[in-house]
Amino acid sequence: MTLLTPAHSARRGPLDPRAIRRDFPIFERNPGLVFLDSGASAQKPAAVIDGVAEYYRSDYANVHRGVYRLSARSTELYEQAREKVRRFLNARQASEIVFVRGGTEGINLVANSWGASMLRPGDEVLISELEHHSNIVPWQLLRDRIGFALVVAPINATGGLDLAAFEARLGPRTRLVAVTHHANATGALLPVETIARLAHARGAKLLIDGCQAAPRLPVDVQAIDCDFYVFSGHKTYGPTGIGALYGRKELLDAMPPWQGGGDMILNVTFEKTTFQDPPSRFEAGTPDISGAIGLGIAVDYMEALGREAILAHEEALTDYGVDRLSRMAGVRLVGAGQRRLGILSFQVDGIHPHDVATVLDQHKVAVRAGHHCAQPLIDKLGLGATTRASLGVYNDESDIDALAEAVAAAQKMFRR
Ligand code: ALA
Repeated sequence: MTLLTPAHSARRGPLDPRAIRRDFPIFERNPGLVFLDSGASAQKPAAVIDGVAEYYRSDYANVHRGVYRLSARSTELYEQAREKVRRFLNARQASEIVFVRGGTEGINLVANSWGASMLRPGDEVLISELEHHSNIVPWQLLRDRIGFALVVAPINATGGLDLAAFEARLGPRTRLVAVTHHANATGALLPVETIARLAHARGAKLLIDGCQAAPRLPVDVQAIDCDFYVFSGHKTYGPTGIGALYGRKELLDAMPPWQGGGDMILNVTFEKTTFQDPPSRFEAGTPDISGAIGLGIAVDYMEALGREAILAHEEALTDYGVDRLSRMAGVRLVGAGQRRLGILSFQVDGIHPHDVATVLDQHKVAVRAGHHCAQPLIDKLGLGATTRASLGVYNDESDIDALAEAVAAAQKMFRR
């Protein structure tokens, strides 16, 4: 299989979004598109689209099953993708990477395997008010089965995590802390290294939801010292339906399977089944092979751009957006704690966020409006809904200018 090299890879250094846009066919097919919804799902570079097609054309067969050469080649590509994800997260070994459907499934896996086998009535799981539904609902479903307490750490006045209040809620009964790295509705970044230190000092395990962080920040699970880390492929410029769970080896080794089927077993009789070691133990059935290969190409693409360069780009463009929007009368940016990255959530006085987003769409500006699958946070902020612009590697200042101009057009329209 030929791995397509991102067009940008020859141009290391600060990102050049104009050149990067040429890597993404969606912009050629939709002239004038101002795409500011990468927080919901990022666009795909040709390297990913063509790489997946090329895999189906040249190398496709089921993995881990065939003795024939094509199946061996397909297995090799699938396992190479796992190694790429290992590198992307700086995990110690590839067996610590489990392919899942996305961040949501990764958290459900931890809840249903680690959680269901380790948690008892009287235990506590600590989350934060900044979570999106994927890191709330799986814990509620499990709580209702087991009877542990789900404790919620509050936000502070600026919309970041209130670290003192978080620490006060960490107690001898806290078995797991499950928090986001980067809040999807507001863009607030959480101090995950500090959270890891605090959690481990109390003997709790730490799961981090990296769905918004992985596309924007260099992530190093060893430096963070977390026990689990999940992210979604479709937000990191990869295909939909694929994501990864990192789990510390000794934890994965001790965890029972959560789904049963082919490929996760060692031996099956009608009386008893024995299971593979991780990661196979957690990948029942034929996996999303092309998705994993596409995700591998996507993380290659991000590495070729440079993770530090992506972060610098997101920071600079976020600052530009904050400056541009905060100078507009009648526009209120929604709290993002001490540090905001890649996400601009705002309200426009007198106009419902859905109406704002509809007018923006008429100006070819694509944003998300609503509660952003983080209803408790948006309720806590007393907002009901916001309009959210979220950035990607292909955005530049002209996109923010287009956003601001379209917001001004909405204000004009609704004043009439
Ligand atoms: N969690 C995704 C978002 O933030 C879907 O839009």
